[in-house]
Amino acid sequence: MTITPTAPATSEIDLFSDETLGVNDDAVFAQLRELAPVVYLPKNDAYAITRYDDVRDALANTDVFSSSGVAFNPQMNEVLKGTSLAADPPEHGKLRAVLTDNLSPRALRPLRTVINDKADEMVRDLFSRETFDGMADLAVAFPVSIVLDLIGVQGDLREKILPWGEAAFNLLGPMNQRAQDSFPTAGELFTWTHEEMRGVDLAEGSIGRAIWEAAERGEISHESFGYIVHQILAAGMDTTITTIGNCLVLLGENPEQYAKLREDPTLASSAMAEVIRLRTPAPVFGRKALADVEVAGTLIPAGSQVALCYGSANMDPRKFDDPETFDVTRNPVDHLGFGYGVHGCAGQGLAKLEIQALLLAMTQHVESFAIGEVAARLNNFTRPYASIEVTDIVLAQG
Ligand code: HEM
Repeated sequence: MTITPTAPATSEIDLFSDETLGVNDDAVFAQLRELAPVVYLPKNDAYAITRYDDVRDALANTDVFSSSGVAFNPQMNEVLKGTSLAADPPEHGKLRAVLTDNLSPRALRPLRTVINDKADEMVRDLFSRETFDGMADLAVAFPVSIVLDLIGVQGDLREKILPWGEAAFNLLGPMNQRAQDSFPTAGELFTWTHEEMRGVDLAEGSIGRAIWEAAERGEISHESFGYIVHQILAAGMDTTITTIGNCLVLLGENPEQYAKLREDPTLASSAMAEVIRLRTPAPVFGRKALADVEVAGTLIPAGSQVALCYGSANMDPRKFDDPETFDVTRNPVDHLGFGYGVHGCAGQGLAKLEIQALLLAMTQHVESFAIGEVAARLNNFTRPYASIEVTDIVLAQG
């Protein structure tokens, strides 16, 4: 029996409006997910895929769901040509290989001690104060210093990294005001990675220098070198920053969960996965449908912009029991917060090293803490806090 696909449900929700981005819980996604597995959004001219199994199936089907539509505006999809993020197989494999070679567990091994020591030092310093800003002082400062070491940057670019990463993610959304305002800053990052930075200026032994040497040997083009450093800075920063902020808030607001983590620090990996599931840092990525395709009985026509709602999939009760509950023992290894399939996050090894090092340092030095005032920072693609007041700190004895 052939099934005739039905027309999609529609919703007036704009995935990139201030109201949607300001919501740090599941309300908007829950509305879409319970409306239908595929919802057409006229305001974004996009078909949102909302449920876990359908999002994962779409990610596995790169013949139809093309990353040439990873961003929600044509200018940015054009700019991203030549990156693994926006490429489809078979080109994708070659572009990604250099990136994964340099971000593999083996390549990252030398960084492990540096990351652990830095995490320990920062956690001790910050939590010995009466209060601190969990975003500026920790969630931003920690990964910025790691990524500068990783690339081997010798000058001081500390102040630039956050605005660069933020602008790059704003531009993945539609050309709303936030994206338009981000052009000059994103352009600065592009000029730095593609013109101003030269691999020979990067520190000996750094991963940035190794990628430059691969370009010098002709294994990749010099243009690819620029793109790779660009992706580490653009894709790697705001996502990691958002996740560290979310770890602080969820653990600070759920002291019984923090106590469980302290009791058994081997839960650090499970706790991190659970934070990413519950507060997916980059909850929507785009794709372009290359052919008419049926998803859960609904037709998505060829040429359509598709919105893969990772944040919605991660809260789908069809997949995760009691999805609203934060449970550090859940260990949701198959969450979609890092994507899935060929485009699954190339930097997740690094993100895990950094975030788990922070969690372990906290369990060692901090008995408990609370969260005071928080403020949101609106970004088209990531869901970060602007500030997090960490208070009522009790240090661990001994
Ligand atoms: C907790 C932190 C992070 C999260 C939640 C995250 C999330 C994601 C997601 C969802 C994707 C898939 C995009 C898609 O489906 O089109 C992705 C891809 C990617 N990520 Fe991450 N990311 C994180 C950290 C990093 C870091 C630290 C780096 C670099 C050092 C990085 C580099 C990349 C790259 C290069 C891609 C593109 C891979 C490809 O298309 O082949 N990410 N990330």
